[in-house]
Amino acid sequence: MSTAFDTIRAILWEEGKLKLLDQRLLPQQELYLEYEEPRAVADAIRKMVVRGAPAIGITAAYGVVLALKQRIAEGGSDMAAKLEQDLAYLADARPTAVNLAWALKRMGKVLFNLPEETQDPLAVMLAEARAIHEEDIAANRRMGELGAALITEAGYGVLTHCNTGSLATGGYGTALGVIRSAFAQQRISRVYADETRPWLQGARLTAWELVKDGIPVTLLADGAAAALMQQGRVKWVIVGSDRISANGDVANKIGTYSAAVAAKYHGVKVMVVAPTSTVDMSLASGDLIPIEQRGAEEVLSLGAQRVAAEGAEAWNPAFDVTPAELVDAIVTEKGVVLNPTAEKMAQMMEKS
Ligand code: MRU
Repeated sequence: MSTAFDTIRAILWEEGKLKLLDQRLLPQQELYLEYEEPRAVADAIRKMVVRGAPAIGITAAYGVVLALKQRIAEGGSDMAAKLEQDLAYLADARPTAVNLAWALKRMGKVLFNLPEETQDPLAVMLAEARAIHEEDIAANRRMGELGAALITEAGYGVLTHCNTGSLATGGYGTALGVIRSAFAQQRISRVYADETRPWLQGARLTAWELVKDGIPVTLLADGAAAALMQQGRVKWVIVGSDRISANGDVANKIGTYSAAVAAKYHGVKVMVVAPTSTVDMSLASGDLIPIEQRGAEEVLSLGAQRVAAEGAEAWNPAFDVTPAELVDAIVTEKGVVLNPTAEKMAQMMEKS
């Protein structure tokens, strides 16, 4: 597989340890932290050392391997009950991205059904975690091709929101994977990246990834996105998702909904790129998706620097829900759903 425009990996399994690129420090510092305990892995997800829906699912899968390693070392007869608690602790780390629950369910299915005669259970669990990781990268590559093919008018910019790249996934990225593929095929000329207040995933992470991989990127304040569309500089808004309900409603980073509303007004198309591990067919519509509320200090301050007037309060939902009617295409590794509906989503999910 070519590594053109694809040089970053944020989740590594090396020498029996999980290594995570600390995304809180980027772009100033590139530091990998090492993890050997599942609860520390859950805390890393909660504190956003690692973030992005597929990335937290993959990280949790390796967390299960570490849980088993720890429980085997301890010994004792109540190992299964303790492992159940470890998985529940990991599942609790963040509420919106369904990839976390999806990965834990898949790991749990193998873990709690290991045949008695299994010689090396750790090796079996590590193989499953690695498979989740590798399948995610393969899905991103496939979605990259499918999504890029939808961009038929060459030479324009695209707008993206948050960070959906190698940092947010096993590698390559969802929306940023489509952008990488489309840039490689000369279908797009430039990426406009919303800075993505309040956590600045766009300014700190997307810009870092794109600069590193040699793809031209222009940052804008989130509030400038509608004016960018008004000027005709972009034909597509391309974003990822943390959870897609059965009818095609899309939860994604706060600000995605505003971008989609503005896109509709300006005749700009909206593409949502997400693996099927992000699709939650158990929820009929997006209003049922749990939305993480984060601390007020993220809005009241910029980094460690307080910017808001003393005494002001803040509302800080980390995600919003874009209704399916504002979405032109959902791209998964199983195929493209145009103008999503519950029927079309179900048909896509049934594909092998
Ligand atoms: O709070 P974050 O940074 O974890 O939010 C991430 C996003 O909203 C991404 O857009 C989403 O996970 C899709 S990325 C593959």
